[in-house]
Amino acid sequence: MPADAHETLILPPPLRRVLPAARWERVTRGESGAGVWRSQRFVVKVQGRGNLQFPSSLQQERERLRYFTGRVPVPRVVAYEVEGGLEYLAMTRVPGLDAAHPDVLFHPDRLVSLLARALRELHALPLRECPFNMSLPVALARARERVAAGVVDESDFDDERQGRTAVSVFNELARTRPAQEDLVVAHGDACLPNFIVNGEFIDGLIDVGRAGIADRHADLALTHRSLGRNLNPEYAEQFLDLYGRDVVDPQKLAYYRLLDELF
Ligand SMILES: Nc1ncnc2c1ncn2[C@@H]1O[C@H](COP(=O)(O)OP(=O)(O)OP(=O)(O)O)[C@@H](O)[C@H]1O
Ligand SMILES: [Mg+2]
Repeated sequence: MPADAHETLILPPPLRRVLPAARWERVTRGESGAGVWRSQRFVVKVQGRGNLQFPSSLQQERERLRYFTGRVPVPRVVAYEVEGGLEYLAMTRVPGLDAAHPDVLFHPDRLVSLLARALRELHALPLRECPFNMSLPVALARARERVAAGVVDESDFDDERQGRTAVSVFNELARTRPAQEDLVVAHGDACLPNFIVNGEFIDGLIDVGRAGIADRHADLALTHRSLGRNLNPEYAEQFLDLYGRDVVDPQKLAYYRLLDELF
């Protein structure tokens, strides 16, 4: 096998029929054949099917993209296929840059205000129309499955938790579970690379495989942490101010950061 075999995107025939011929550039790298590729107009995600290592399947991502269409800005689904143990999800490429790009981070005040507004809008969607339940009973059950399957990367824990085990994190989550959930339609992985900024707007929420009804802090915790890392803690706090301090609970921010360690 040539050394670059995994560098080339080999599309299953049904996808080749709907996607125009293009030069595919690799955006992220997964194991054997998995990853994200983009052309000028399209993005194709590929991952192993039924592999617990992935926090969500591409089929789940497709369902959520469909639900979000017409409600919040998301890419349009072009095709979904399963072949040779791999899932393929093709969607339109949203023009712009993801929010972790240096050119976007160069305008931090604008970015923080765009993110606060985008999450406010998302979290204002009516719960009764959202078919996906990602509340704590569901999230903790999935977390338990991942811990049991041994797919949690303990070396990737936040600094303050280095050296701990996935089991001990899970036990802490079970012990300190908040009594009440402030439920909204949540993105589920609201870190900066998952927002596409185009000029003055957020034109794309992407990577929505874990979206669904959950506590608003599931999103606030990850955006807050991501801003702290990509910019600084002051901008992270400014984001919470703009989103609305009245609904922010610092203990829940910590809780949902902890939960994210298992995904
Ligand atoms: N539809 C899209 N339009 C524009 N850019 C996209 C789109 N989908 C993905 N990207 C770009 O590719 C990056 C990775 O895509 P995505 O977030 O969906 O994959 P991922 O599962 O997070 O991958 P990884 O976990 O390996 O980072 C995004 O951060 C973004 O820069
Ligand atoms: Mg992503």
